[in-house]
Formats: sequence, structure tokens, C-alpha cells
Amino acid sequence: MAHGLTRMLDVKGLSYAYAGAVAVSDVSLTVGPGEIVALLGANGAGKSTTVRMIAGAMTPQGGTIRFGGRDVTRAECHEMVPLGVALCPEGRLIMPQMTVMENLLMGAYTQRDLAKRQETLAEMFAFFPRLAERREQLGGLMSGGEQQMLAIARALMSRPGLLILDEPSLGLAPKLVAELFQLLRKVNEAGTAILLVEQNARQALRISHRAYVLEKGRTVRSDLSSNLIDDDSIRSAFLGV
Ligand SMILES: Nc1ncnc2c1ncn2[C@@H]1O[C@H](COP(=O)(O)OP(=O)(O)OP(=O)(O)O)[C@@H](O)[C@H]1O
Ligand SMILES: [Mg+2]
Repeated sequence: MAHGLTRMLDVKGLSYAYAGAVAVSDVSLTVGPGEIVALLGANGAGKSTTVRMIAGAMTPQGGTIRFGGRDVTRAECHEMVPLGVALCPEGRLIMPQMTVMENLLMGAYTQRDLAKRQETLAEMFAFFPRLAERREQLGGLMSGGEQQMLAIARALMSRPGLLILDEPSLGLAPKLVAELFQLLRKVNEAGTAILLVEQNARQALRISHRAYVLEKGRTVRSDLSSNLIDDDSIRSAFLGV
């Protein structure tokens, strides 16, 4: 789809205000094919608002969003998923009364070819053995970490070119966080670009290629993650050192 383009996702001057309160102001960012790009910032910085606009869950009030060369500024989620953009939202939001398998199949609702859907399901079970073992279990009875894996696997079921994750490590024990980041690296190596919202800045900078830092709705830094890891102001603001 977007192969060969240096900018798979190209966001320019995005803005949004909730009832007059500015949440996002003039945010520009890009994600290239194969990249992991981190979006960092304190609580309320505007990270979720930004990725929700990109995924089509909210319509920007200013700015443009292009994906794979096409203008998708006003596209909605159900239009973005078939184009290859999947959002794994903040707070998991899996269906607690549905089984693991039903939750996963919901992620592939845009895929009409049943054989292809089954094939993707088999891939997900190979990727996430824990989900395979518990395929008949209700989503709501999975542990917090398992629900997080389920939410990510559900987003991957649409075979996105760009996976957007909003704070996937939230509430996970340190060991699971490490596992999650390893998994994201594997997903990325298999060809999926990732836009990663994280408060866990150190880990996010370790696995990402580039990063943007938001402060009060504005982009205050953007650089290679390797540069930001060594940056004193980033270290004191986010890394607690
Ligand atoms: N539905 C809403 N109605 C009104 N204001 C909102 C709404 N959602 C977010 N905001 C406000 O917009 C600003 C940005 O919020 P957003 O959720 O994008 O931040 P965030 O960077 O994702 O924060 P966090 O790290 O806490 O998830 C905040 O000041 C927040 O209070
Ligand atoms: Mg948020």
C-alpha cells in the first residue's frame, strides 16, 4: 500500500479544542514504513487526542492527515481500518462478555474473506500462545496483561500497515512491560509501522527509532530516540534521573 513512500503517515498542523479548551495545537508528525515512532508527554499533553484524530475516532478542527499519499483528514475509523490504520485505544476496551476468539474476530470485521480471517487468527495464536490457550475464555476474565495482549492482537487482526498504540504498558507489571516491548519489536520486524504513545518513556525511547515530545498540546521536541535518551532535559522531565 504505502511501500516505497518515505512518509506513510504525514500529519500537519493538527489542532483540537474541547469546548474551547485547547488540547492539541499545531502538531505535525510523520511515520515512515517500518518505523517505530514514540509520542511522549505528561498527563494531559494531548497524546490521546492526537492519535484519536489520526485513527479517525475524532475529526480534527485544524490541520491535515495524509496516509499512503491520500488525504484522510476527515476519514472515520471504519474507513481507516481498511486503509491499514488500526488503533489500540487507551484502557484496553476489549469486549468482556465475548470470548477471546470472538474479540479477535471483531478486529477483522473488514476482512470478508473467511479463509483469510482464519489464517490471520492462526497467525495471532502463533504469536500470542496465551491467547490460543484461552481462546474460549471470556475476555473479561483474562488478567490485565492478557487483556492488553488481546487488545493488541485484535488491532493486528486487521493486518494494519500502521499500528497505533495508546499507552499499551499502562498497569502492567515490569516483567510484562518488558515482554510487551519485545513483542512490539517483533510486530515491527514483521513489517508493521508503529506509532506508540507511552508514559514509560525510557522503554519507548529504547525501542523506537524517532520520538516526538508533546507539552500542553504542542510539539516541543522531535529527534532520533537515541539522541533523546541522552538528553538531559528529557532525562529530568521523563526518565526520573
Ligand atoms: N472528552 C474530553 N472533554 C473535554 N476535555 C478533554 C476530553 N478529553 C481530553 N480532554 C482534555 O484535553 C487535554 C488533552 O487530553 P489527552 O487525553 O489528549 O491527553 P494525554 O496526553 O493522552 O494524557 P494522558 O497521559 O493522561 O492519557 C487534557 O487537558 C484533557 O483534560
Ligand atoms: Mg492519553
